[in-house]
Amino acid sequence: MIKVSASLLAADPLRLGEALARVEAAGADWLHVDVMDGHFVPNLRFGADEVVALRGATSLPLDVHLMLDNPERHAEAFVRAGADWLTIHQEIKADVPGLLRQIRALGAHPGISIKPSTPAEVLEPLLPLADLVLVMTVEPGFGGQRLIPSTLEKVSCLAGMLQDIGSNAHLQVDGGIDTFTFREAVQAGADVLVMGSALLGADDPVAVMRHVRTNNSCT
Ligand code: DX5
Ligand code: ZN
Repeated sequence: MIKVSASLLAADPLRLGEALARVEAAGADWLHVDVMDGHFVPNLRFGADEVVALRGATSLPLDVHLMLDNPERHAEAFVRAGADWLTIHQEIKADVPGLLRQIRALGAHPGISIKPSTPAEVLEPLLPLADLVLVMTVEPGFGGQRLIPSTLEKVSCLAGMLQDIGSNAHLQVDGGIDTFTFREAVQAGADVLVMGSALLGADDPVAVMRHVRTNNSCT
């Protein structure tokens, strides 16, 4: 069953509540919250306060994507704020296995992510520790970019690696997923699609969700 995690990065910052209501009404499965520190990625975005506010306003699972150089300083705050899924990047200099274990011990599902230039193989030792694997399909930092096709080869590769170890971890794609590109991502093995501009920028988000639900290879 394919899930759509609606990215609020595409929302008007003055109308976050309206954006939430729109994606809920459209039937999004999860809410994707991008957290950026201006170092790991060249942009600044949501903090734990926004996660607290969203937690109070929705029962959708909160899928929090930490694009931070030092997620170890903030992981606990985001779990306490209400993150159900908390994803960190492999490329950071911290103790990544230790942090994935800590996120699980705090009560959230740990996720691990790679940028487009990071090979899938580096995730091999981390896969047993993760409930979600996020392949960035654009350079992280900004919404509204075009999907980088070569990243989908890594999705296929990781789908095989997860199968080989008997993992049920979700395989998520993030960046440039729209009503055309989602199909290739699903065929490559992704089961959670982050959608930002393609969903929130749509005139009819309900139609976008219907399209994704009825046109994926798993139905
Ligand atoms: C980019 C973020 C994405 C972004 C996706 O760094 O991680 O979650 O919101 O936006 P779209 O779907 O517009 O590419
Ligand atoms: Zn993201």
